[in-house]
Amino acid sequence: MIISGGARLKGVVTISGAKNAILPILAASLLSESPLVLEGVPCLDDVKIMKDVLQELGVKVNFVGDMMEIDPSSINSTEVSPSLMRMMRASNLVMGALLGRFGRVRVSQPGGCTIGSRPMDLHLKSFIALGAEVAQNHGFIEAECARLEGTDLHLDFPSVGATENIMMAAAMAEGTTIIRNTAREPEIIELQNFLNKLGARIKGAGLDVIRIDGVPKLGREIAYRVIPDRIETGTFMVAAAVTRGDVLIRNTIPEHVEPVTAKLREAGIDVQEKDDWIHVRGVDRWNSLDVRTMPFPGFPTDMQAQMMVFLSLARGTSIITENIFENRFQHVGELRRMGAQIRVEGRSAVVEGVQSLTGAVVESTDLRAGAALVLGGLASDNTTVVEGLQHIDRGYEKLESKLRLLGAKVRREA
Ligand code: UD1
Repeated sequence: MIISGGARLKGVVTISGAKNAILPILAASLLSESPLVLEGVPCLDDVKIMKDVLQELGVKVNFVGDMMEIDPSSINSTEVSPSLMRMMRASNLVMGALLGRFGRVRVSQPGGCTIGSRPMDLHLKSFIALGAEVAQNHGFIEAECARLEGTDLHLDFPSVGATENIMMAAAMAEGTTIIRNTAREPEIIELQNFLNKLGARIKGAGLDVIRIDGVPKLGREIAYRVIPDRIETGTFMVAAAVTRGDVLIRNTIPEHVEPVTAKLREAGIDVQEKDDWIHVRGVDRWNSLDVRTMPFPGFPTDMQAQMMVFLSLARGTSIITENIFENRFQHVGELRRMGAQIRVEGRSAVVEGVQSLTGAVVESTDLRAGAALVLGGLASDNTTVVEGLQHIDRGYEKLESKLRLLGAKVRREA
């Protein structure tokens, strides 16, 4: 992506459906015996991979525009091929649904990824507690159980994926499952809403205890609209701020980005919000501050890299502490190429604000790091080339055209 920086972003941008909501919902559709329709589905590479996973399992999928028709009545496999598992860690979300509905699942062990080792121990321990036999052999995970039985679970850490996998596994289990210390992300509430619409009996999502009363089957014919993406929203909020722009963000849920809004306001940015919009007006220079990533409703790790670009241009020194993933500072080296002054000390990055960033050739190493480099390019005073766009395409729908509509000078070269 070639970015001629310096333009103040101005205008209106519409946020797409949430990647981290649609992925578990697609996995949860495996629990249904009837066809269903999903609306507001973003056209992202991760969504296409999950669609391929469903099709490999025998699901009929028709994806047109932002609508996906899913017919899970023809599922004929409970095994996901290693090539699809390798393409996306979130493929592991099919485990809970397949185990819950068919009593068996076999997937290849998801490896670590650039941001951290990302083990599956909490998912697997919970499957075992629900009565499954779990084996890990030759790089595969196999789980089996005629019918799972509800139980009391306490998560060591409020893992998003583990909470979702347990909700899906327990939805059709015998009896009641209680999950304590659950993740409280909006995407968990979304999964609860979706499963309940299918006929599940789940309550508590959004709090730290979730109760799931198992039902024998799921499968009302439903249409479901996915919530807007809070990380895309946050990324455009920062884009407006770092370019000293004036951007109205539409189709969003302001409450979901409150931790980002609070930090931007603390730094001196004008953020107004109401109903389903957020209006961000930049200022010439803003103040430094400290950020600690935490599970929701704390500051999201998925906004840490973008926030680092913002703080690189602040007045004074900021400290960013990454508490969720152990290796999520790979954008630091690339931002330094652009003139940012950042040093990493263990889990913290010390960011000394500079007057301006300069364009450079930089490489994105993961999805949000890529977004941060694009933001750095927009804020810089000359040309930036961001390589490694495959990461950005996993999670941002039509990023360049949305930025161009706001006046950015951005193009893509093969
Ligand atoms: C989800 C999001 C991702 C986001 C992350 C944290 C999706 C598809 N992805 O990822 O964008 O960055 O939440 O908000 O929704 N952990 C364990 N053992 C486990 C599971 C997790 O130690 O069994 C650790 C992880 O290594 C990590 C931390 O818990 O350090 C958080 O991971 P988790 O909340 O599970 O993230 P994901 O669901 O993978």
